Amino acid sequence: MIIDKTIVALDQMSLDEIDHFLSRPENTIEFVKIGLELFVKYGPDLVHKIYRDYKKKIFLDLKLHDIPITVERAIHSLKNLPINFLTIHLSGGEEMLRHAVKEARVSLPNSKILGVSFLTSLEEKDLNELFNIKNSSEAFLRLFQMANLTEIDGVICSPHEIGLVKMHFPKLLVVTPGIRFSDEIRLNATQDQKRVASPQEAIKLGADYLVIGRSLTKASDLSMRIKELSIPIGIF
Ligand code: C5P
Repeated sequence: MIIDKTIVALDQMSLDEIDHFLSRPENTIEFVKIGLELFVKYGPDLVHKIYRDYKKKIFLDLKLHDIPITVERAIHSLKNLPINFLTIHLSGGEEMLRHAVKEARVSLPNSKILGVSFLTSLEEKDLNELFNIKNSSEAFLRLFQMANLTEIDGVICSPHEIGLVKMHFPKLLVVTPGIRFSDEIRLNATQDQKRVASPQEAIKLGADYLVIGRSLTKASDLSMRIKELSIPIGIF
């Protein structure tokens, strides 16, 4: 079922709202994402609380990006946090990735390390201005190629790049944000997401996990959305 591959992003929520959302009986999603905003505000206590009170798996989306030793030390500071996924920026370079993964294997043995490619907020025009990149597929491919040379577990990418990763680097896990339900896509209710797909489309393209935020946290009918995600994958 898609729900087993769904990670719900707890963005822009207060502690009370998080408690309310995670306590809803129909909310059977087992994996949550905590981003920079919540982590900077509440720190490791929030991670421990969500793990202790709700027994959720946790994706800590910090998108670390600094010189290799600083990223390594930052990961060391997260030692033994109950997390399952942690993000770093692929553009930090191969040495940074190697330092990060090596430290994570010791300090966070239960966590997979995932590399973020280009931020979705960057458009082709920005990539061109910043890096003189004319063809974004080639730029993505170069980043994924470098990631593949390290022991990193997987990458974060939009639905548009899933095929590229799966074709060239099948051993990398693919975690995909930019998900909207089909009716939202039809109504153009995609907010600031630029490259979107429905949960079914993203799974068909080969995504291993989906990150869904507002379509769930702000859903007018959460049980209906949960039902939509609970159809066995073979059926569509
Ligand atoms: O849009 P939604 O609320 O589903 O966002 C889920 C996740 O997608 C966010 O936590 C963020 O990491 C990512 N995102 C993105 N590009 C955007 C907006 C959100 O990659 N434009």
